Amino acid sequence: MRRVVVTGLGAITPLGVGIRRTWARLIAGDCGITSTAHLEPQERWRELPSRVAGMIPRGRKEEGGWQASEWLNKGDERRMATFTQFAIAATEMALQDANWRPSTQQEKETTGVCLGSGIGNLEELYNTSITYEKTGYKKVSPLFVPQLLINLGAGHISMKYGLQGPNHATTTACTTGAHAIGDASRFIAFGDADVMVAGGSESCIHPLALAGFSRSKSLATLYNDDPSSSSRPFDRDRCGFVIGEGTGVVVLEELEHARARGANIYAEVRGYGCSGDAHHMTAPLENGHGALLAMKRALKHAGIPPRDVDYINAHATSTPLGDAAENAAIQSLMLGEDGVDTASSVTVSSTKGAVGHLLGAAGAIEAIFSILATKENIMPPTRNLHGLEAGFNFNYIPGQAQERRIGVSLSNSFGFGGTNACLAFSKCR
Ligand SMILES: *[C@@H]1O[C@H](CO)[C@@H](O)[C@H](O)[C@H]1NC(C)=O
Repeated sequence: MRRVVVTGLGAITPLGVGIRRTWARLIAGDCGITSTAHLEPQERWRELPSRVAGMIPRGRKEEGGWQASEWLNKGDERRMATFTQFAIAATEMALQDANWRPSTQQEKETTGVCLGSGIGNLEELYNTSITYEKTGYKKVSPLFVPQLLINLGAGHISMKYGLQGPNHATTTACTTGAHAIGDASRFIAFGDADVMVAGGSESCIHPLALAGFSRSKSLATLYNDDPSSSSRPFDRDRCGFVIGEGTGVVVLEELEHARARGANIYAEVRGYGCSGDAHHMTAPLENGHGALLAMKRALKHAGIPPRDVDYINAHATSTPLGDAAENAAIQSLMLGEDGVDTASSVTVSSTKGAVGHLLGAAGAIEAIFSILATKENIMPPTRNLHGLEAGFNFNYIPGQAQERRIGVSLSNSFGFGGTNACLAFSKCR
């Protein structure tokens, strides 16, 4: 099969607009989680048991803020859901970073898009439902359906850049971003495309979304007065995830195609493994068997033994059950066959302490963090990790980033419905 490398990165996260700003702040140990108590309508936000979120800072691009008018004209802004607006901006950043501007018909036909979202445009659905209930059919916007469909993110990207390669969208809850990048890498490996724009995007910080996740008892509720402490993956006092928004987009490229044009190569996509828990709607298997299968399959595809894995960017969302299940899965993988001898030589961190859980974008942004760790030999820390429970014996990079040569990294993503994916990256030789 053809080899696939990463040649461009773009991101919008609660740590800021742009991957360089996000990465610098992540490595510095900063946090992008803030209180929602000031948002309107206050009676809706304030009645919620979880009043923290990882929100994109609004403001000027120069200061790392988001302002749609700096990226889109008025018409496009009106036509596009917020998750699509973010995706358009992150795609522009990634293509610029990759220095890839398809101009000939051949280049356009061999460049594709694979971009998903977990929830999509909840706000539009909510607003239109209210309008429809009050006034009926005639007030429903002709943009309602295209505003709602999740594949319109990929659609708008293809329209903007004339990309006529595969056009695909994944929507697998919190595994969306990882599936998008993994599926896109296969399109290149199988020869359906030479270049793919791939990633995940999410913007659903709406009281109704938090109400739903609260009712399913998924969210952190104990740290409303101290937002930056609320997301605490692997910590003994974790109590749920913190909802976040944002986008991660990568440019994937066939190795020889990238070399021929002298592109900067960040890392190679070495493996991609998927599995299903076949267990429960929202809870993981306690022993993490589904997660283990995904990691094993990614490494099998890569032809890499577990002992060669230097860094794992965990899915760990800061829920009591989920983090423990993933911990158990990593234990089985890394201390099992062809693994390492001691738990302390396994290095794992979760970046959700800094940005929260970006749902459909989480897998994409965390893949980018794993790619940068592999490129720059620095591993981002796990924030708010102060105490460990029995059985948590790895190096979780508490508080401060750690430097070490990283040959191979894994990025885990798991979603409601029991869907799991793992991506394996290595330095490119
Ligand atoms: C939904 O309605 C609220 C309240 O009128 C408004 O502030 C918001 O911009 C609307 N959102 C969308 C996507 O139209």
